Amino acid sequence: MTKTLSNKLQAVVLAAGKSSRFKTGNTKLVEKICGKEMILFPTNLLWQMGIESIFVVGYQKEIIEKIVSENKKSSDYTVNFVHQKEQLGTGHAVACTKDLWDKDHILILNGDVPLVTNETIESLYKRHIESNAAISFVVSHYIGTDHAYGRVIQDEKSIRIVEAKDFNETVYDSKCCINAGIYIAKTKFLQDCINNITTQNAAQEFYLTSLVEMAYEKKLKVVTSYAPFDQIRGVNNFEELWAVEQIKRSELIKHWMHNGVRFDLAQKIHLDVDVQIDTGSTIGSGVHLLGNTKIGKNCHVRKFSTIENSTLEQDVEILPNTIIRDSYICKNAKIGPFAHVRNNSTIEQNAVIGNFVEVKKTTVGKNSSAKHLSYLGDTVIGKQVNIGAGVIICNYDGFKKHPTIIKDNAYIGSNNTIIAPVNIGKNTFTAAGSTITQDIPDNSFAIARAKQINKENYVKKLLDKLQARSKQINNKVIPQTNSEQSQKEL
Ligand code: UD1
Ligand code: CA
Repeated sequence: MTKTLSNKLQAVVLAAGKSSRFKTGNTKLVEKICGKEMILFPTNLLWQMGIESIFVVGYQKEIIEKIVSENKKSSDYTVNFVHQKEQLGTGHAVACTKDLWDKDHILILNGDVPLVTNETIESLYKRHIESNAAISFVVSHYIGTDHAYGRVIQDEKSIRIVEAKDFNETVYDSKCCINAGIYIAKTKFLQDCINNITTQNAAQEFYLTSLVEMAYEKKLKVVTSYAPFDQIRGVNNFEELWAVEQIKRSELIKHWMHNGVRFDLAQKIHLDVDVQIDTGSTIGSGVHLLGNTKIGKNCHVRKFSTIENSTLEQDVEILPNTIIRDSYICKNAKIGPFAHVRNNSTIEQNAVIGNFVEVKKTTVGKNSSAKHLSYLGDTVIGKQVNIGAGVIICNYDGFKKHPTIIKDNAYIGSNNTIIAPVNIGKNTFTAAGSTITQDIPDNSFAIARAKQINKENYVKKLLDKLQARSKQINNKVIPQTNSEQSQKEL
C-alpha cells in the first residue's frame, strides 16, 4: 500500500499560519507535544510513509524550516519549502505550491493535526481511488458547540463545508460531522479549481474547504472517510494542545506497558516520544522521562525523578527526587534520593551517588561512592573511591573551570575542600576537614587543616574571664532619657 501511495501521492503540509489563537506571538507549530515540535508529527509520518512533501511556510518560516530540515532522516528524501508571503487562507496556501505538483494526486494536511496516523491516510487514499473522486476528505464527530471546526453539511443533493465563522443557527445546532483538515485531491481537479476560490466568507479568506462545494457543483465525485476524533484533533490553543498531549502520552504509556514496563501511577507520568524503556523496569509516580532517554532492563526510577537525554543500563536504581541530564549510568548503579547528575557525567557500574550530591561533567568509577552532600565537578574519579560527606570540588576560580583527578582506591575524608586543578593519587587517604590544594602522590596520607590545641583544665579559667567581662559591661552607667527619669521619680 505504502509503495503505491508514494508513487501516486505528493503531500502539501500547511504550516504558514500566524497561530493567533495561541496568543504567544509565535507559531504554534513549534510547541512541543511529548518532547517533539508539533510540525514534526505530520513530517515524520510522511517520511515514514515515503510520501514526498512540500511545506507551505510563511509566519516565522525560518524556525519551521530549520526544525524540519534538521529532523530529516534520510538524505535521499527531498523536502521542499514554498513561501506563502501573506497568510490569505488555507486555499491560498495550497495554491502557492502548484508549480511543484508532479504526481497524480495531492494529499493536503493541516500542520496542526498532530495525531493523524498512516491508517487514516491509507483509508482516505483507498476511498479516493476506489470511488474515482475529484476530492476526498477525512471527517469525524465532534459534539462541542464552540466555534471550532468546519461542519460538513450533506444531503442527497449536496455536500459542502461550513466554517465556524460562517455558522448559522441551523448548522450549529444539528451538525456534529466535522472536517478534519486532511484531504486528497486529483491534481487535475486542483489545477482547474484552486485559482477559482474566492474570499466570500466571514473571514474574507481563501478557504480550501470551498473546493468541496466546487467539485459538487461541477458534478464531480466527493467522498469522505471517517476517523476517530482523537486522531484528528486540531490544535488552535493551549487547551487543545494539552488535550492532544494527554492522548499522545497515554498512547506511549500503553505501548510501554505492553512491552513489560510497570508504571506505578500512570496518570502522573510524563513520557517523551523518543524515550525507550526495557522490560522489567518500574517507573514511579511523577517521573518525567524526557528527550532521548533509554532505560535498560529491570531499572527502577522512583517517584518524582526526571531523566533527560540520558541512558541507564540494566538494574539501575534511581531513588526519589533525582535529576539526571545528558549522562550515562552503568549497570547496578544507585543514585539519589535528591541527587543531580548532569552535563556528560558517567556513573560506572555499582557506583553509588547519594542524597544531595551534585555531579557535573564527572566520571565516577566502578564501585565508587559519594553518598552525602557533595559537589563533584569536572572530575575523573577512579574505581573503589570513597568520597566522604560534604566533599566539595572547587572547580571554578571565577574565570575558568579546572579539572581534578582522583585515582583508584582513594579515600577522601568528610568535609574536604579540593581546590582544582589537583591530582590525587592511588590508595591515598585525606583527613576529614582538609583543604587540598596540592597533588597527592600514590599511597600517601594528606592532612591540611588547622592544628587542634587542647588546653588542659582551662575551662574554669575561661568561664571566670567571661563572667568578669560581662560584669564590667553591666556596670557601665548608661545615660537615661528624660521620660525614664520622670517615671523613676514617680
Ligand atoms: C481548518 C479548516 C476547517 C477544519 C479544521 C480542522 C479551512 C478554511 N478550515 O480550520 O474546516 O475543520 O482546519 O482542523 O481550511 N495555514 C496556512 N496559511 C494560511 C492559513 C492557514 O498555511 O493562510 C495553515 C495553518 O498554519 C494551519 C493550517 O493551515 O497549520 C490550518 O489553519 P487553521 O487556521 O488552524 O484552520 P482552522 O480554523 O483550524
Ligand atoms: Ca486548526
